[in-house]
Amino acid sequence: MQVATISFDRFNSLADTDAQERIGAARSQLGKRAVILGHHYQRADVYQHADLTGDSLQLSRLAAQTDAAFIIFCGVHFMAEVADIMSKPEQIAILPDLAAGCSMADMASLAKVERCWRELAEVLDLEQAITPVTYINSAADLKAFCGEHGGIVCTSSNASKILDWALSRREKVLFFPDQHLGRWSGHKKGIPLEDMLVWDPDLELGGLRPEQILHAKILLWKGHCAVHQMFQPAHILRFRNQHPDGLVISHPECSFEVCRQSDFVGSTEYILRTVKEGAPNTRWLVGTELNMVDRLARDVKAEGKTVQFMSPTVCMCSTMQRIDPQHLAWCLENLAAGNVVNRISVPAHEAALARIALERMLSVS
Ligand code: 13P
Ligand code: SF4
Repeated sequence: MQVATISFDRFNSLADTDAQERIGAARSQLGKRAVILGHHYQRADVYQHADLTGDSLQLSRLAAQTDAAFIIFCGVHFMAEVADIMSKPEQIAILPDLAAGCSMADMASLAKVERCWRELAEVLDLEQAITPVTYINSAADLKAFCGEHGGIVCTSSNASKILDWALSRREKVLFFPDQHLGRWSGHKKGIPLEDMLVWDPDLELGGLRPEQILHAKILLWKGHCAVHQMFQPAHILRFRNQHPDGLVISHPECSFEVCRQSDFVGSTEYILRTVKEGAPNTRWLVGTELNMVDRLARDVKAEGKTVQFMSPTVCMCSTMQRIDPQHLAWCLENLAAGNVVNRISVPAHEAALARIALERMLSVS
């Protein structure tokens, strides 16, 4: 029997403690039929409910491995899309708040990437010369574009390996949407900065001359993460002046200078592992999202480790933050009552092509 969907209005003003209780009750009703995946940037009051946590690479693997009927993704839209693409057809991926997007992912649209591809065709023999590589922080249709054009997906933890794969097949790479991850990963492979040129999607031919395109090794889409661009080399300098023995660790979405001046650079999972495995009584400056840094600081405090957020101003991923206990409780109660809300469903033809690019990534990394 079809039951009427429970409206979110009744949850909007729910006190946090009540929302927590209702999450617990709905989860016990759902049992193993529901699994909650949580990205490391989730706020603590949601993260505590995650059955499985990880960086984007781990979460895409986990989504492919779970047998639960409902995959509730506490993360952002592209992550739930990956869960839908990588899970079995009968499984259902859910994003508790549909407004939880990724502003960086929004910086590259299919229309703009297709226009870029057409413009590049005026200069290059595309299928011979250039491989499209999309950061996993992108919409499913861009992953499908890569699947269709011999391209691949990468995450912050495997981007260098993926560049090896791409450059062993064709001479050049078109990397979108994060110029910083592309630049840092290319630099790690020894590609000179002058061989990595920024493609500005709002300018004709990306703002480049044909001879620049012919010379370039990597074309970097002009996109960035608003959270990670807040971290500055000056923050590192101040920390090093105050704490000469301190260690600096950053996410590769930070600017090139921040990455270059850091002692360690890697994905969210890498950052957690490196600090947790670090020697007792060490002091760390961390350049990534605040929820994760705060949690890490609490987790390692007992070992005498000090973890400091890189920016003096608060910079959270405001879209991740939209997943709150109220939305989680609302989704779970609806599922327990037999109603699917906020399903993320990638059209089949797009999902099939995107899966090709994602599976290429999983087999390379
Ligand atoms: P990770 O893959 O390192 O978890 O990064 C995801 C992300 O969106 C960072 O801003
Ligand atoms: Fe997107 Fe930046 Fe948020 Fe990561 S931190 S999900 S890149 S907006």
